[in-house]
Amino acid sequence: MNHLIDINDLSAIEIEALIDSGCEFKKNKSWPKLSSSNCSMLFYENSTRTRVSFELAAKYLKVTLVNIDVATSSVNKGESVLDTMCNLQAMGFDYFIVRHQQEKLPQFLIENMKGDFHLINAGSGKEAHPSQALLDAMTIYQYKKVFSGLKIAILGDIKHSRVANSLIQILTILGVKSLYLISPASWQRTDIANTIVTDDIEYGLSEADVIVCLRIQKERLEKSDVIDFDEYQQNYSLTIDKLQLAQKDAIVMHPGPINRGLEISSQVADCSQSVILEQVNNGVFMRMAILNQLSKS
Ligand code: NCD
Repeated sequence: MNHLIDINDLSAIEIEALIDSGCEFKKNKSWPKLSSSNCSMLFYENSTRTRVSFELAAKYLKVTLVNIDVATSSVNKGESVLDTMCNLQAMGFDYFIVRHQQEKLPQFLIENMKGDFHLINAGSGKEAHPSQALLDAMTIYQYKKVFSGLKIAILGDIKHSRVANSLIQILTILGVKSLYLISPASWQRTDIANTIVTDDIEYGLSEADVIVCLRIQKERLEKSDVIDFDEYQQNYSLTIDKLQLAQKDAIVMHPGPINRGLEISSQVADCSQSVILEQVNNGVFMRMAILNQLSKS
């Protein structure tokens, strides 16, 4: 693995190896040192969890990391992302962690940059968020061990969510057969094979082993996609009543940031079945696994 751009670039074996490595880093704290590497982070969209967990992961592996403050960088003087990265590369950076609203930008950067470097896609538009999918898979593995027999329900703004897109890809590769995508009709995607698409939340959540709740991607909604949020909250918010439709030992996940009372009630977010903060914790170890794996190629 030379870059981490899209989950579909990985095989089941590579994904399982990353999950094992993340679990190992979590359990055994004798971590390798990747001190010859220099990593720069360029976040052109907001972030808390992804940015900070990559920072911590790099620190734990003794990688020098510089977080480029995009708001005060030369982007505002008209410099392209590619030129910014080539300049950083000239200073000796060999890892780049990039979040940007433009889809396919990571692929463009790989094709147009020269020399040896590793690019990690930390979120590209509505398209991909591979490190999130990997930490989500690690979390499901931690609680459920075997993927194939699970009923997994993804609930919310499926259409605009890169988290959903990458998660569907990883769960499909890992052999999950029963994948329910629950959202209002206007936020559905019908172009994904082997999934059950429904606007019926009761049907979708019934006997689920895992529920992944999504934030409404308000910043990505086009005019035709805007729905009545009060109505959404009434029909699709994950409340304790709705959670009871799932298996008794179902886990509740959310990539964060959560909007309490909109897509998920506070009671559910804070209940014993919620593993939302465990996902955040796993994010650090999965990102260590990713940096470590890239350092080997
Ligand atoms: C997600 C993202 O940026 O796509 N956040 C994250 O990385 N944990 C989800 C979101 O913003 O809703």
